[in-house]
Amino acid sequence: MNSAKNAPKPAKLTPNLGLKHRNSFGLDSKAELAYEITSADQLPALMKELGDKKLAWRVLGGGSNVILPESLPGATLLINILGQELIQSDDSNSWLSVGAGVNWHELVSWALEHNLPGLENLALIPGTVGAAPIQNIGAYGLEVGEYIDSIEAFDSAAHAFVTLPKEACQFAYRDSYFKQNPNRFIVTKVVFKIPKAWQARLQYADLAKQFAESNSSPSAKQIFDAVCTIRSNKLPDPKVIGNAGSFFQNPIVPSEQCEQLSKKFPNLVSYPDTPGMCKLAAGWLIDQCGFKGKRVGPVGVYENQALVLVNHGGGTSTDILNLAKSIREEVLKKFGVQLEIEPNIL
Ligand code: EPU
Repeated sequence: MNSAKNAPKPAKLTPNLGLKHRNSFGLDSKAELAYEITSADQLPALMKELGDKKLAWRVLGGGSNVILPESLPGATLLINILGQELIQSDDSNSWLSVGAGVNWHELVSWALEHNLPGLENLALIPGTVGAAPIQNIGAYGLEVGEYIDSIEAFDSAAHAFVTLPKEACQFAYRDSYFKQNPNRFIVTKVVFKIPKAWQARLQYADLAKQFAESNSSPSAKQIFDAVCTIRSNKLPDPKVIGNAGSFFQNPIVPSEQCEQLSKKFPNLVSYPDTPGMCKLAAGWLIDQCGFKGKRVGPVGVYENQALVLVNHGGGTSTDILNLAKSIREEVLKKFGVQLEIEPNIL
């Protein structure tokens, strides 16, 4: 009796769910079986059922970093686990526990309002909290991994919940242990550790420029506002023009190759990376190949930022991947550099 009473409500199933409004590229896609997960404890029974039926599955968070095909067979898990809570605090840090389905930007705003500054450089990044650690979202001199304490996830290989401390998450540039092990973990909760000693992070040139004329150091709220302004000017709003943010990673190449390239292309944009390596601005490489603002049927390259591919309406994953292919070929031909696609191709 008791166990039945305490059993979690099963995940809500919607067959043939249209996903056009659940992916920022605005691609027409249908999920054969869409399950809405509102609580982590729905996962063990659901994952057992999918395993027993040998059904393929994947997770869809905010849909802001995916390229969806016209149809997604098997199960698509829509993670809608909400809630954020300050769970611990000492003299130096605050620990914040957040459900994987919480909207990322709303969390950044909430943290600021609750006097927990630190995440403001990552304002306005689309997507959910659960998706943020997978590709280790980063912008304006900050990556989310830096602020993560641990991650709770359902490990489908072990059929059990696991808590991975930050060190186990192997965060790197747009990379993590989760990304390296696709379709294994379902992130349910992220615990952030936010230092109480806050310091403005202004090393990113565009951001520093905003405050160059002011004598005093900006507040976290002022940085938040500035990041929102910079992003809105440079990146297309997915509600207006379908896109998935940066479409390629900034390639990391040996410093020697970088030096040779800068001799040939004196305006090359590059940044020092780990010793012996340097990071090239993929947007610059693509721009130099003449793709900025170019349109190919219903898809194209954004006019203000060549690293962003856009869906002007009615484009399919094939249209986008064909355009990506010609960009990769041209960049390889002109610069000898391989670009890697950033969003997940489902
Ligand atoms: N550039 C061009 N032409 C372009 C685009 C860029 O010449 O069309 C040059 C810029 O002038 C600049 C350099 O390339 O000198 C870098 O451009 P930008 O500052 O716009 O940053 P990014 O390297 O293109 C990265 C992230 C963004 C993040 C910004 C700010 C990646 C793949 N992208 O872009 O992240 O917001 O830095 O930190 O690392 C995302 O991942 O979806 C994303 C938007």
